[in-house]
Amino acid sequence: MENKQVVLKRRPVGMAQAEDFDITTVAVPELVEGQVLIENKYISLDPAMRGWMNAGTSYIKGVEIGAVMRAFAAGQVIASKHPDWNEGAYVTGLSGAQSHVVSDGKGLTALGELSAPLSYYLGILGMPGMTAYFGLLEKGKPVAKETVFIAGAAGIVGSTVGQIARIKGCKVVGTAGTDEKCNYLINECGFDHAINYKKEDVSVRIKETCPEGIHVVYDNVGGPLLDLLLTNLAKGARVVICGALSQYNKTEFYGPKNYMKIVTARGYINGIIVFDYIDRYPEAVAEMSAWMEATKLKTMEHIIEGLDNFPKGLQMLFNGDNFGKLIVKV
Ligand SMILES: NC(=O)c1ccc[n+]([C@@H]2O[C@H](COP(=O)([O-])OP(=O)(O)OC[C@H]3O[C@@H](n4cnc5c(N)ncnc54)[C@H](OP(=O)(O)O)[C@@H]3O)[C@@H](O)[C@H]2O)c1
Repeated sequence: MENKQVVLKRRPVGMAQAEDFDITTVAVPELVEGQVLIENKYISLDPAMRGWMNAGTSYIKGVEIGAVMRAFAAGQVIASKHPDWNEGAYVTGLSGAQSHVVSDGKGLTALGELSAPLSYYLGILGMPGMTAYFGLLEKGKPVAKETVFIAGAAGIVGSTVGQIARIKGCKVVGTAGTDEKCNYLINECGFDHAINYKKEDVSVRIKETCPEGIHVVYDNVGGPLLDLLLTNLAKGARVVICGALSQYNKTEFYGPKNYMKIVTARGYINGIIVFDYIDRYPEAVAEMSAWMEATKLKTMEHIIEGLDNFPKGLQMLFNGDNFGKLIVKV
């Protein structure tokens, strides 16, 4: 049996290119006692991957040159010599951008009976959904009637944050890169306002849509947009730094100039790393599944076919070409 893999060939400068990867095929090794063989059905494409391609360590070590690209995958056990894993079980984990993986079971999550399509466990019920849930509730601490502003709102994290904030009774405003995405946020996700940051004067629109000031900033974008948001904080504001989409492909990061606004707002800036909440994922999955069942929480997927399209998919994230959680169907 063959295993198709996306291997990191060289470290990108700026946006990752197809030439930064090798798409190769290797034989699947024989299982030994204590191992399982998983067929990956879906591979998640996440903005964080761009950082994982750099040398060194941030919150996680960079992928080695010649190694399979780190990626979350959802798959099924197709052979097992492990007492805890049965053939047919659905699993997720950091199984890599490859069609198959041999594992000793460590770090895998057994999904049990699926309550949603398998691919959802890479999106709204997976790592990005957990990021939205814990980032907003634990770091943003939203209170009903407060204003929550999401920079980068149409991605899987942002659209989920916005819907949870609505469930908690907040006013919700966010930015996205197309009118279609803005309409989706208002009409499907219940946002009060959505600002097309590529077309509108964001500074003016923030003031128009949030005259009371912003109580929770949920920032996925960083750069100059974060600076604008800092000048519009309400007293006691919480600024959650989740990501910096505008900066991942830059060789030099733009740091916030307006940080003194945190002082005048008597607020705080707080970072979220989703992996810190791993023990509490089941609690979030249970609550979010119930919201989904009650149609209070929705999601959208953008599925592309085949591991050959992995490099192109990574670029789509930074060009805004995905509309919904971007996933490769293996
Ligand atoms: N801290 C954590 O533990 C953690 C965990 C997961 C994710 N994150 C972070 O959360 C953020 C959102 O991730 P996601 O999975 O929701 O993303 P996603 O669904 O993949 O969304 C990507 C979207 O971001 C927008 N974007 C791309 N470049 C941009 C730029 N320069 N300025 C503004 N918007 C831009 C694009 O939409 P437009 O058309 O709107 O531009 C694109 O479609 C990322 O920063 C990611 O690194 C953090």
